[in-house]
Amino acid sequence: MPRFSRRSFLHLSAAASAAAAFHITTEPMLAAAARRRPHAPDAVVIDANENPLGPSQGARDAMAAILPKGGRYADELTDELIQTFAQMEGLNSDYIHATVGSTPPLALSVLAFTSPQKSYVTADPGFETGMMAAGSSGARVVKVPLTKTYAHDVKAMLSAGPDAGVFYICNPNNPTGTLTPRSDIDYLVANKPKDSIVLVDEAYIHLTEAPNVLDLVKAGKDVIVLRTFSKVYGMAGIRCGFIVARPDLSEKVLQRGGYNFMPVTAVVAAAASLKDPNLVPERRRINATVRQQTFDWLTHNGYSFIPSESNCFMLDTKRPGKDVRDAMAKENVMIGRTWPIMPTYVRITVGTQSEMERFQAAFQKVMKA
Ligand SMILES: Cc1ncc(COP(=O)(O)O)c(C=O)c1O
Repeated sequence: MPRFSRRSFLHLSAAASAAAAFHITTEPMLAAAARRRPHAPDAVVIDANENPLGPSQGARDAMAAILPKGGRYADELTDELIQTFAQMEGLNSDYIHATVGSTPPLALSVLAFTSPQKSYVTADPGFETGMMAAGSSGARVVKVPLTKTYAHDVKAMLSAGPDAGVFYICNPNNPTGTLTPRSDIDYLVANKPKDSIVLVDEAYIHLTEAPNVLDLVKAGKDVIVLRTFSKVYGMAGIRCGFIVARPDLSEKVLQRGGYNFMPVTAVVAAAASLKDPNLVPERRRINATVRQQTFDWLTHNGYSFIPSESNCFMLDTKRPGKDVRDAMAKENVMIGRTWPIMPTYVRITVGTQSEMERFQAAFQKVMKA
């Protein structure tokens, strides 16, 4: 078993049993826990919403060039990254902090704004990291089913969480890859209880044409936006993200996890990625093309799925999804986990065209067995 998977799995088990301690649960830990067994080096791994293309050439060149300076903390490189993003988005640089991916600020935001008196309100199915962090703060976790169109049901979220500390909106949502209309997010922000925040996780926003909500932060609302370089930019293993919020909000979050220096490799790769105007449109196009080809194949072969705008989608297996996932693993294709509210669906990450062809062959074999 790869060292990483074993450690991740053990860490997840420990998190489940040690409610008083604060553990951060990450996507790779959840994927490894669902996987349960090692996979061969040549396996198709489409279970953790990673980007098979990896960092762009510009990002790779920037990392190679900075290596000789790796003996320096070089905090100014992080400042340059923040300035670059601030200028691109018209934000005040005080509103942006760089983080090692967006998992830490996600978990710490939940820790900062929830408590036994302040609940955590999230969509169901939804990304689990925040729910698990709420276990550490002793908060009530309120799971609100998505609407019929798989958007966040903001009105139901508001009525289910009059005591909310955090409303978590993941747009597009993980695991469904579906969007919540901007007007619904505006409604939530306008109608939420006074002391709560709206935590908008835009990990996958670049894979869609949907508007982001950075303007709500600029307008001084009680909104925290999370961004990551792990998805469209292909830097999951390099680790860079942003928390974007009013300084009084981000201060409350970051003081819970301590401040630290960023790896120089991550910040120069992130800056190079931001400066490449073709990167996001090109990768969005590649992901959408492979996703559509996969959807066409599934439709042609009589399988159903939830149409997605992102790099993952929910596939209807019409039998326990866990069984299909285990059978697919035997075919050397690692597909994603299930969610308790949708036990006959599995999450599939969109890989490369050739990975998805291997997925199709294995899925056909498993479903016809
Ligand atoms: C919705 C969502 N938010 C945040 C993350 C965290 O990613 P990272 O810590 O790599 O930035 C993930 C990872 O899969 C995710 O799916």
